[in-house]
Amino acid sequence: MNIVLIGYMGSGKSLVSRCLSETIGSEYLDLDDYIEAEEKKTIKNIFEEKGEVYFRKKEHFYLKKVLGTFENTVISLGGGTPCFSGNIEIINKLAEGRSIYLQTGVDELVERLFGEKNKRPLIAHLDTKEALQDFIRKHLFERSFYYNQAAYKIITDKKALNDIVAEIQAILK
Ligand code: S3P
Repeated sequence: MNIVLIGYMGSGKSLVSRCLSETIGSEYLDLDDYIEAEEKKTIKNIFEEKGEVYFRKKEHFYLKKVLGTFENTVISLGGGTPCFSGNIEIINKLAEGRSIYLQTGVDELVERLFGEKNKRPLIAHLDTKEALQDFIRKHLFERSFYYNQAAYKIITDKKALNDIVAEIQAILK
């Protein structure tokens, strides 16, 4: 039984997944980390050297591999993973109803992402908070179509990590 966390960049997927896996005593896997280890390159380098389309192909390949191989694992996906190549259908099928969308509002995403945008190729070029906010508002609107297909949704704004983890445990009981 895997649990799969999806959501926009900066929504806390990795942190929540790690904390949830420790709490319930299961394994933890971050798809971006897995891709970097397998490809022996950072995501940033993959984007720079081969472009986004190439990255999405790799992401699709490793998503299927991970969901088909791992068991009893809390899996944190990349922000774009559910939005390409029929990935959301694959996620929902292979996670057997245990996909969770961590929904975070634009203002909170801007605050979290502005300081660490350089490791994220899609937003690294946005120099001001206003530009970042504009981008996120539109991007999140587009992506919400996919995120909202997760089996469950949790709103994370202004919530403590432990409370989010407890909410997930309650949902999946
Ligand atoms: C991406 C999100 C990133 C990473 C890549 C693309 C996206 O993951 O997969 O930079 O398209 O939203 P995080 O959501 O973990 O930052």
